[in-house]
Formats: sequence, C-alpha cells, structure tokens
Amino acid sequence: MFTDTLSATIQGINALIVHVETDIANGLPTFNIVGSAGTEVKEARDRVRSALKNNGINIPPSRVTINLSPGGLRKDSTAFDLPICIGMLTAMEYLPEEYTEGILFLGEIGLNGEIRPVRGVLPVVMAAKTEGVKECIVPTDNASEGSIVPGITVRGASDLKSVVEYLINKDDSLLPATHTDPESLFNENAGVIPDFDEVRGQERAKRAAVISAAGFHSLLMTGPPGAGKSMIARRIPGILPPLTLPESLELTSIYSVAGKMPKGRALICTRSFQSPHHTITGQALVGGGPVPMPGIISLSHRSVLFLDELPEFGRDAIESLRQPLEEKSIRISRIRYTVEYPADFLLISAMNPCPCGYFPDRNRCRCTENEINRYLGRISGPILDRIDLCTELKSVEMKDMTGKKIGLKTSDMSEMVEKARKMQERRYKGTKYRFNSELKADDMDEVCRLGKKESLLMEKLYKEFSLSARSYHRILRVSRTIADIEGSEEISTDHLLEAASFRPDLEYFRNRK
Ligand SMILES: Nc1ncnc2c1ncn2[C@@H]1O[C@H](COP(=O)(O)OP(=O)(O)OP(=O)(O)O)[C@@H](O)[C@H]1O
Ligand SMILES: [Mg+2]
Repeated sequence: MFTDTLSATIQGINALIVHVETDIANGLPTFNIVGSAGTEVKEARDRVRSALKNNGINIPPSRVTINLSPGGLRKDSTAFDLPICIGMLTAMEYLPEEYTEGILFLGEIGLNGEIRPVRGVLPVVMAAKTEGVKECIVPTDNASEGSIVPGITVRGASDLKSVVEYLINKDDSLLPATHTDPESLFNENAGVIPDFDEVRGQERAKRAAVISAAGFHSLLMTGPPGAGKSMIARRIPGILPPLTLPESLELTSIYSVAGKMPKGRALICTRSFQSPHHTITGQALVGGGPVPMPGIISLSHRSVLFLDELPEFGRDAIESLRQPLEEKSIRISRIRYTVEYPADFLLISAMNPCPCGYFPDRNRCRCTENEINRYLGRISGPILDRIDLCTELKSVEMKDMTGKKIGLKTSDMSEMVEKARKMQERRYKGTKYRFNSELKADDMDEVCRLGKKESLLMEKLYKEFSLSARSYHRILRVSRTIADIEGSEEISTDHLLEAASFRPDLEYFRNRK
C-alpha cells in the first residue's frame, strides 16, 4: 500500500514541505529510503524498525520504499524519523491514512520510541502555516518554539505511542502548545545587558561605540590591559535599538536551525553578543561542516560579534570574514547544493597595542620595535580596510575611577543611536541601504554632499595623510553618521575632523608597519 505523510526540510534558514511517500509491496524484504537522503536520513531505517518493534509492531517481510519528495532537494536531518514511522504505520494499515491527513510530523526517534528534539522547528512551522497546514506534531522540547506562530496548532509529543493514541482518539492526550504572542515576550530579557555608566572615563571610546552602533560601523579598540575594552564591547548590544519582530523571528530561525535555542525559550528577543575565543576555526566562525550549519557570524546576525585579542585569531578565521562583511550573508557550497545564512553583524574588536600590552608606555613596555610591528602585522590590510572606526584607550586615570562624575550612560547613548537610526531610516527608505556604513562610492556624492569649506578640508586631509580612495570614502561615511547623531542633514568640518580622528591608518597603525 502507498501512503503520503507530511514533513519538512531546512534550506538555509527556511523550510520546505516534504512528502514522505511510503510503499509496502510484496517481494524480497528490503527497506530503502530514496530522494536525496543524507546519511542521517538513511539511518532512520534502523531507528524506525527498532522503535516500531519495541512498541509491539513488527514490520512484515516485504519490500519497503520510502521516497522523500521533492527528490532533488538535499535532506540531512534526523527529523524524518517520526514521519517515516507514521508513514509505515499507515502503509501497514495500523492507522487509517485519513487520521494523519493535514498533519505535519517532525522528530527524531530513539530505539524505544522516545521522540527527541530536532533543529529548525520554527522555520518548519512557519512554512507549514504558509502552505495551509493546520497542525504540526513536533518533539515536546521544541513545542514552545513553534507556539509563537499564530493560526496553526502545534502539539508536543514525547514518544511514538502517545502520537499514535492521539491520532486514533483525537483527544487531548497531546495537548496543543499554548500560542504565545511574540510581542509579549519582548520584555522577558530587559535589563540583562550591563550599563555604560559602570565604565569610568574612556569617553572617547564610548563616543566611538555610539557612532559604531548608530551607523553599524565596525570598530577596533586598542589599549593596555584593564583599560575597559571588553567592558565597553559587552555593553554595545544595550545601545543598539531593540529588535523588531521580523528581526527577532529571523534571529530565532537561525538559532533554531543551528540547534542553539536555549531550552524552553520560544523567541530570541534581544540582540546577541557573541565573543568567540581566538582559537576558533574559520568553519566554526562562518559556518559549514559536512551538513552545513550556521556559524558564530550568523548567530551574531543584527547583533554584536566581538573579537577580543584580534591579532591572536588565526589568519584563516579572520580572512573568512571578508566576504560576509561585504555581503552581509554567507554562502556555503557543497557538491550539489548551496545554502545561504544571513550574517549582518556589527564587528567590534579589541587588541593590546603590543605583545606585552603596554606600548607606548615605555616605562612598562619591554617589546622591541620589531616585535610590535610583527604583532600589528598579523592583522591583514584587507581586514583593517573593513574597519571604519579605530580608537585608542589609555589606562583609566585615578580621578576618573574615584570621582563622582559619570560620563555617558546607556540611556544617553541609546538616544543618540536612535536619533541617527531615524535619520537613516528616512533617508534610505525605498533604497537598498539601511545604514551609512553600507554606502557605496557611487551614491556617496549624493548622500554625503559637502560644502565648499568641507571639500577643501577633505582635500587637505587627503594630501596630508596620503589617504587611499577607500579611506576617503570611509571618512565620509562616518561623518554622515556623526551628522545624523546631531540630527543634521549637512556634514560640517567638525563632523569630518571627528570622523578622520577615528581612522586606523591615521591613528594607531600609522607609520607602525
Ligand atoms: N574604564 C573602567 N571603568 C571601570 N572599571 C574598569 C574600567 N576599565 C577596566 N575596569 C575594570 O577592570 C576589569 C577589566 O577590564 P576589561 O576586561 O574591560 O579590560 P580590557 O581592556 O579588555 O583588558 P585586556 O586587554 O586585558 O583584555 C573590568 O572588569 C573592570 O572591573
Ligand atoms: Mg579584554
């Protein structure tokens, strides 16, 4: 007998409906799974056979063929275990096929019939809703994730037996997960990000943080140990505007596909802060693997990626950031298919100025010129080129540590960021841009139009500091953000000078290589 059961597969961070077709026919006993099934799917054969046997159902000696349609779509997931089990039960006529009609199944099955969590439940439920599916049965641990999609019933199941009982009786044995309004979850995590008022002094670095967050400009902080670089980086997610619902759903889908959803959480509703250790491999950073998975840069989507001790990162890892920094997404190619994950992250990095950390304080720094140059040389030109802002921190002065004066705090800084974001939103409405940092040279003349005085200043800077065309454009982009923070449509000489003061080739790295 032939039956058709609904399931889904993940492509990038989206899901596509898959029909699990099951045919049981007379013939030599075989169990084949076809339809671009990866190893994990093929292994379902043994799990399904044992799970059914341990629940009292023996597969008769017959020719079993499972086809996952559409056949051209690569499938790599243990989530097909449950739909294959259900397909077998209907094909063996233990269950009438109409009992499973319109229900999508997803879940990994243990040999005893236990249903275990899988990746990507949120995108699957969203795709099911779009396709008009009325009900999904998913692993209990993933049910809360699916429950935020309105207009579709999501039931969590913990073992095969309870699914079968539910399908037969259609009772409340599998309770539907209560739909949670995603908006109501947004306050859940408020207040977990520490405040900038705890950072004493370092006003210039805080200003750089504001500009960085306002225009989504990448930032590099240099300075001696204990100056507050990591402290500042950790507080930057707090000054980025709150996630919007579509952004939150997108980020949650990435977490879900990566299998990184915190247990019991339905939605990622705050911008994340990813701070990988410098021993991380390129693959873990950008994503990949035999079965492609999103990497740290995708978990940092619309959030902060903090690379602390930048020169210590492997060249491969750092260089692999070049393409995603440009394209805001990462494409991973395999022989027969390519997946794409979003990766629009704010790159914040920090480093000591030399191996011992104390340069230019020659009373403490014992590094030779050569050692310093070698250390700085580990950061390649192309990566420095993609960093819009660079600021050098000094050790905190005693008066700042003990004084009453508290400089910029998170609330002030978020206000500035918000103001600049609104200006950008208005300006870029209907265009391909969202932030000043994305501005391409072609549109620069229009968006960063300079007056006569300002043009003369840029000419002077260009000559005096032998700027490259790239650095020239970068100063313009950053000055656009500085003007936006002030709510000004015009870019003034002050804005240009401040922007120029944050350039890496003008500040710390200049003449050091
Ligand atoms: N500006 C500051 N205001 C208040 N406390 C500070 C400041 N800078 C550093 N500290 C204190 O020093 C600790 C270490 O700071 P942090 O880790 O940010 O330094 P860092 O610049 O990242 O150093 P390293 O180069 O060693 O990574 C902080 O946890 C904090 O207690
Ligand atoms: Mg640090």
